[in-house]
Amino acid sequence: MVSIAIIGIGAVGSLLAYMAKEHKPTVIYRSEIYGEAIDCYGGIVVQVNQEDHVVEVEHYLTGKAPANSYDYVFIAVKAHDTADAVKEALRIVKDNGIVVLVQNGIGGLELAEKVIGENKPDVGVAGGVLTYGVLRERAGIARITGIGELIIGYKGRKADERLMKIKDILNGNIRIVDDIGPYRWLKLIVNAAINPVTALLNASNRVIIELEEAWIITKMIVKEALNVIKKLGIELPVEDVLGYVWEVAYKTADNISSMAQDIRSGRKTEIEYINGAIARIARENNIDAPVNTLLTLLVRGVEKWRGK
Ligand SMILES: NC(=O)c1ccc[n+]([C@@H]2O[C@H](COP(=O)([O-])OP(=O)(O)OC[C@H]3O[C@@H](n4cnc5c(N)ncnc54)[C@H](OP(=O)(O)O)[C@@H]3O)[C@@H](O)[C@H]2O)c1
Repeated sequence: MVSIAIIGIGAVGSLLAYMAKEHKPTVIYRSEIYGEAIDCYGGIVVQVNQEDHVVEVEHYLTGKAPANSYDYVFIAVKAHDTADAVKEALRIVKDNGIVVLVQNGIGGLELAEKVIGENKPDVGVAGGVLTYGVLRERAGIARITGIGELIIGYKGRKADERLMKIKDILNGNIRIVDDIGPYRWLKLIVNAAINPVTALLNASNRVIIELEEAWIITKMIVKEALNVIKKLGIELPVEDVLGYVWEVAYKTADNISSMAQDIRSGRKTEIEYINGAIARIARENNIDAPVNTLLTLLVRGVEKWRGK
């Protein structure tokens, strides 16, 4: 049996625990309410097709799990929480283990590669792109709202045997690829095109395909992102990117994007790692990205100004 740890036990962390349930994974949280909930339910409750599954886990508050002990460490925290989670992953992963960051946006994986690479150079650091939908109902309970895929790969290099093995370890639709870069960028574009527009219009994803003004903004976001991608020489896994964005919005029309949910509940969004990342990388490459810059400023402004 391999040893698996999951850092961050919100929506995605719970899905990963469910996928790894045959290996009794360890889950790591930063607030005690998760530990209390897990003890109370006898594990993590994951609802699949209206059926409750209780996943048996070992559980620890961050900093308490044994050091250098896990073959596979999955990080499932929001982008702005990556630094602390990476520190914990570095502490608990075995010297020849694997760390997989399952996260939206650009910036988190780069940080993990740097910190882990400098301290435990034989650890493989990979990125995970998730197209499942998962909702955290409350601490210890999550619901799978849409079946998708978990694509895992190193950035810019081939998968090795350790990484390939994840396909046998996790249950679900898992795909291991040779370069995660293009898949991350495609997901980034979808998030950049849908999330801030739905967040600022306080609407479900339906607004993207039904409101002309929203679709005009979406097209501008995608156009700027494609200019960046062209400059970076990245080849995306789909040709008709705008058509792909439209299709995602159509298939998830009734969903409230994570950014819209974060704005509604007064939480910090991942804007800096999504449209903010596109704007930053555009700037670094002397490309104009005024729409992504403006949307970043607007969402950041809403975050800072609410309640004042
Ligand atoms: N949900 C989806 O359907 C979905 C799909 C694809 C991609 N994603 C992406 O996946 C990532 C995770 O999203 P999510 O929906 O799972 O978010 P989430 O439900 O907010 O879960 C994140 C969890 O991480 C915990 N956390 C933060 N820092 C930690 C640390 N240092 N140690 C231990 N736990 C820590 C948080 O704890 P607290 O509760 O104490 O804050 C929270 O429970 C995001 O980048 C998101 O965009 C999500």
